[in-house]
Amino acid sequence: MENKTQKKVILSGIQPSGELTLGSYLGAIKNWVALADEYDCYYMMADLHSITVRQNPADLRRRTLTQMAAYMACGLDPKKSTIFVQSHVPAHTQLGWVLDCYTMFGELSRMTQFKDKSAKNADNINAGLFTYPSLMAADILLYQANLVPVGDDQKQHVEICRDIASRFNGVYGDVFTLPEPFIPKVGARVMSLTSPENKMSKSDKDPGGCVYILEKPEDIVRKFKKAVTDSDTEHCVRFDRDGKPGVSNLMTIYSAAVGKTFAEIEAEFDGRGYGDFKSAVGEAVVELLRPIREETERLLADKSYLESVYRAGAEKAGYVAGKTLRKVYKKVGFLPR
Ligand code: TRP
Repeated sequence: MENKTQKKVILSGIQPSGELTLGSYLGAIKNWVALADEYDCYYMMADLHSITVRQNPADLRRRTLTQMAAYMACGLDPKKSTIFVQSHVPAHTQLGWVLDCYTMFGELSRMTQFKDKSAKNADNINAGLFTYPSLMAADILLYQANLVPVGDDQKQHVEICRDIASRFNGVYGDVFTLPEPFIPKVGARVMSLTSPENKMSKSDKDPGGCVYILEKPEDIVRKFKKAVTDSDTEHCVRFDRDGKPGVSNLMTIYSAAVGKTFAEIEAEFDGRGYGDFKSAVGEAVVELLRPIREETERLLADKSYLESVYRAGAEKAGYVAGKTLRKVYKKVGFLPR
């Protein structure tokens, strides 16, 4: 179980606070799959993080399991990567507390996500929302992760994690590996279909903007038909992120789905209208997601297999995390049991 191969360590996670989106697949999970051979990878369902916002308990349980099945349906192989549920490994909350004591009020107050989420949840600005970054730092540091694949919106969290780790190392010596945010080369940043200047997000107020990976084909096709294109008079399919954000987003999605370059896509739709283009993208996404949806459903019907995967994941993760936690407890001066 040791990291004998000396592969670099990767950790990432997604909160099961909503259904997985096309954006989470193309922007994150697809890359995780690509990294599985080269790195020692830990991928978790960040359920501890998700209760910083109120969750319906039955939904949270269902989404946690569905998310795990979907990770696997997207190609994550539990034999290669450690797939686990964050709350199954108590070391996360244990290290989280220690790190809370090495994280400054001022730095937490400056976090963009805290400011955004407290504005959105003005009636529930709880302490967990505030200390979210030190729990996330614990997630990363427990595994001595070198790289953390995240989207732009999470870079600040990896940076504060480095600050916390350096502060701790400064006092106690080299306990933690300093992680780096890892924005993979092959990543696709998928934007909302209805407001292409914003990232596609499960918390988008407009349900038309977001496509879910388990969504019914007819709903997917309908959402793409309604996708915003651009109001310029040119009316042609051409990649221009700033000038034509809607068309460029659809091109990004189409390119990721069918593996064509932007030049090939421009040629394919030369002289054809946006309507044709949007239908083609919708169909391509349906075909891209069909096997994932079917495999997720198949896995969800086999609960005992899924349980065996998350138990094994928790055991492996718990072993690695436990080593770091014991070292930390010793360094800070807790009496061994
Ligand atoms: N904060 C991340 C998000 O909202 C989820 C997350 C929790 C995470 N812990 C992590 C991501 C550790 C990377 C590493 O998407």
